[in-house]
Amino acid sequence: MHDRGHWKNRQIFIMAAVGSAIGLGNLWRFPYVAAQNGGGAFLVPYFVALVSAGIPLMIIEYGLGIRSQASANIALGAIRPFFRYFGWMAILGAFVINVYYCAVMGWTWVYLFDAGSLPEWAKDIASSKHHFMVDVLNVSGSPFELGGIQWPILAGLVATWVIIWAIVKGGLDRVGKVLLYTVPLPVILVLILVVRGLTLKGAATGINYYLTPDWSQLTNPQVWLAAYGQIFFSLSVGFGTMIAYASFMPKKTEIPNSAAITSFANCAFSFLAGFAVFSVLGYFAVASNMPVSEVTGSGPGLAFVVYPAALATLPFWVKGFGFLFFLTLLLLGIDSAFSLLETVSAAISDKFGLSRTVSTSIITGISLLLGLPFTSKAGLLWLDIVDHFILTYLITLVGIVECIIVGYFLGVKKFAQEVNENAEIHLGTIFCIMIWIVTPGVLMYSFILSVFKEFQKPYEGYPVPALLFMGIGSLVIVFVLAVVLGSRYTKNDREWKAIESGILKKEKEKQV
Ligand code: ALA
Repeated sequence: MHDRGHWKNRQIFIMAAVGSAIGLGNLWRFPYVAAQNGGGAFLVPYFVALVSAGIPLMIIEYGLGIRSQASANIALGAIRPFFRYFGWMAILGAFVINVYYCAVMGWTWVYLFDAGSLPEWAKDIASSKHHFMVDVLNVSGSPFELGGIQWPILAGLVATWVIIWAIVKGGLDRVGKVLLYTVPLPVILVLILVVRGLTLKGAATGINYYLTPDWSQLTNPQVWLAAYGQIFFSLSVGFGTMIAYASFMPKKTEIPNSAAITSFANCAFSFLAGFAVFSVLGYFAVASNMPVSEVTGSGPGLAFVVYPAALATLPFWVKGFGFLFFLTLLLLGIDSAFSLLETVSAAISDKFGLSRTVSTSIITGISLLLGLPFTSKAGLLWLDIVDHFILTYLITLVGIVECIIVGYFLGVKKFAQEVNENAEIHLGTIFCIMIWIVTPGVLMYSFILSVFKEFQKPYEGYPVPALLFMGIGSLVIVFVLAVVLGSRYTKNDREWKAIESGILKKEKEKQV
């Protein structure tokens, strides 16, 4: 059997997991999701989601990866062979997310090169919006109007894939070396942006908006759904990534504390990034005599539209801060993107007995091709639809299933006992209750609520055929592929070898 590789030590493993978690989700997604969901009000459900779903699932995924020393399909299949299909769904979720994630990285490259002319294109919100919607993305009127490829975005997409391919192909040693730069550097850069932001006149207005809870928002289920979605995306749980990363650690690895460090580091970084963004937006709101809520209400365009417009009004070094901001985004995104590629590549290499280079190259090629529609004029619309359906349904479903598998099939007490052998923080009754009831309960509630909302009103007013084709379509493809990958065995299949060697068979016999 080929060597799957391993992390040099626990520090590198945690750094890799933190690198995977901290990404575009923290600086691009978190501020606009917070702004869309009541500013300060969002922080409460966000924290509740972290504790009730994020950390428990992170512990489960670390545990599953470490005990099975394998990807999600084998990790879940080892408990009951049927569950390998859900493992494949998680892995395919990582695959789909990476396809559009790298397209957003493509936008970021374009913006990095545009930083030199930021004072012209971002002189006010209207011109900045025009730059985003027309000059860069050239967004079409409907998801079915693909228009042409936006070549600069395609160039950015290709650059991103070439970089992550080269890193992942080089094995875990290379990944470890890259992490030494891509994890600490953005933290330093964000700190610089925070200091710059907080020293601006009017920053306090933005920070007040960011930190003042609006308790009335807590009765709005939409805010809660957004918080759970953001936690999943941001922590990289539910996509098999943390299972894959943990599988490169020896069986005696400490789990609960490592999971807590990863989760808190990620959320602390988001919290910090909020200061960088909202301080500048406060300054901008005061200078342009507008309420902060109006300044921030632009959804995914916040980092690409409003923030640059705010930067353009700075007294000095406008281009420099613009460059720094987009460079930070790129560095943040790279280690998340390669963690998603690693997830899929490791599983495919295990499945077909392929070398790391071959499996990484195949996945890169397919993902690049599938990424093409996201570089078209309808790219933003496709991205919005696919992101919504994959996160709301597929990733949440995986989260629910992981809790059920560990909670009821493996037995959460048995799981906790295994984990506690090497734990710095012991898992006790609270953890068991979380996995039995709380986490799957809130996730099921959120899943059902989302289904209802889908029928009440088409998501974001998109045409129903587009939602069916891109949204439901991607879910169907993932389900079908998961069944195909889980049902067919090849000569070198590690899943099959696991059955032969008894890991999966034992469970099968137990079922009879
Ligand atoms: N966890 C990654 C992010 O937040 C996907 O960007």
